[in-house]
Amino acid sequence: MTDNTRRDFIKQAALGTAAFVAYPTLPVLGANDRVRVGMIGVGNRGQELLKQAISVPNSQLVAIADVYTRRRDEAKKMAPGIQTFDDHRRLLDMKDLDAVIVASPLHAHARHFLDTLAAGKDLYSEKTMTWSIAEADQCLAAVKSSDRVVQIGLQWESGGALADARKWIKDGIVGKVTQVNSWMSRNTPHGKGQWVRPVPSDCTQQNVNWSAFLNGRPDRPFDPYRLINWRLFWEFAGGNVAENGVHQFAWVMSAMDLPLPTAASMSGGIFSEKDGREVPDTIAVTLDFPQDIVVTWQSTFSNRHYGLGEHILGSDGTIEHTLGESDMVKAESGEHIRYFPEKVNRAQGTALHGKTPDQNHMGNWIDCIRTRKTPNASAELGYRSAIAVHMANLAYKHKQRVTLEAAKSMPVEI
Ligand SMILES: NC(=O)c1ccc[n+]([C@@H]2O[C@H](COP(=O)([O-])OP(=O)(O)OC[C@H]3O[C@@H](n4cnc5c(N)ncnc54)[C@H](O)[C@@H]3O)[C@@H](O)[C@H]2O)c1
Repeated sequence: MTDNTRRDFIKQAALGTAAFVAYPTLPVLGANDRVRVGMIGVGNRGQELLKQAISVPNSQLVAIADVYTRRRDEAKKMAPGIQTFDDHRRLLDMKDLDAVIVASPLHAHARHFLDTLAAGKDLYSEKTMTWSIAEADQCLAAVKSSDRVVQIGLQWESGGALADARKWIKDGIVGKVTQVNSWMSRNTPHGKGQWVRPVPSDCTQQNVNWSAFLNGRPDRPFDPYRLINWRLFWEFAGGNVAENGVHQFAWVMSAMDLPLPTAASMSGGIFSEKDGREVPDTIAVTLDFPQDIVVTWQSTFSNRHYGLGEHILGSDGTIEHTLGESDMVKAESGEHIRYFPEKVNRAQGTALHGKTPDQNHMGNWIDCIRTRKTPNASAELGYRSAIAVHMANLAYKHKQRVTLEAAKSMPVEI
């Protein structure tokens, strides 16, 4: 297959599902009705979400779909009595299902997203919302033409730290912000690559619905390494910008009410994890926004001293949000949100330490299924943060600064 036909094939396969769909309207649940939830993709993250879903009062996990027998067996142990499928379409055929959680690999998000809405179910979709800009456009359009409740797995949107940051900015104590710097850092023992997972011995062709995993990617013999380690390959993933940067992009966009970026740059490479992966381990992203604001994001996999965080730099004050940094003095590594006045402009200002409690992100979604309100991490935010991710990755792949307009027509090299 040539590169172009391969790309067209992938684009069509990813987008073909829900064109011209009339989105069904289902009856609204009462305040005391049980919400019947299904899941698509019950691997590492999916099993965490499964635990969260079954612990929300008055919700019931009734079925899951996963392409791999091991994951279906694990889910059944965690939630005995559920139905299991190896094809997500059979799960979506279930009439007595209200809502679906999607935690499949990135390249399958759009298909599962669109099919779930087309089946009339409410949706919780893991981030990044989609693998490409074209898919993001289609998913947002689908949300706008349906009445379904959609939460994106950007759980920091339910965090108290974001509420504190938004309040301080709204109160005017931060002043004019022209720059936000953010970072995310991890490390692993020598010889063990970040994200690399061992392939279980039962991960065989007999136990995996391989064509469902490929989801329209060009056919090839069963490859258990790629099934388990899809994150390392562009065809299925979006690198650390899609895995972790997206949380921080969304957080900054929400805190400051930022629209889509106007341009993105990204440099870096595979500098520490030389294990055959395609996605970079060392990254420096710059996003330009229309209101004279530049947001930077840096990420490394070979030093975790500073954990992750954001610095919002205002003329009248600084917001510092940190998580997991190594604090040798206090021997702590929790989450902190702090405000520091800029004495040149707020001589009387005092430092503040945010204390707003977190909300339960899964609980927020289930509540919204009953109230039909928009959840904390809307599809619209999922869209904006996904576009920022894709613009950055396009800048990296094409080795050039990419504007929003240019990104929309650029080929997604894979
Ligand atoms: N919000 C967060 O903090 C957070 C954290 C980790 C992962 N995630 C996201 O969750 C998603 C899953 O990540 P993971 O680490 O759990 O991956 P994983 O590989 O552990 O799990 C994916 C699961 O999906 C199954 N699967 C693959 N293709 C499928 C298909 N077509 N239909 C049904 N099932 C299919 C796999 O068998 C596997 O069990 C990713 O999008 C990732 O970015 C989010």
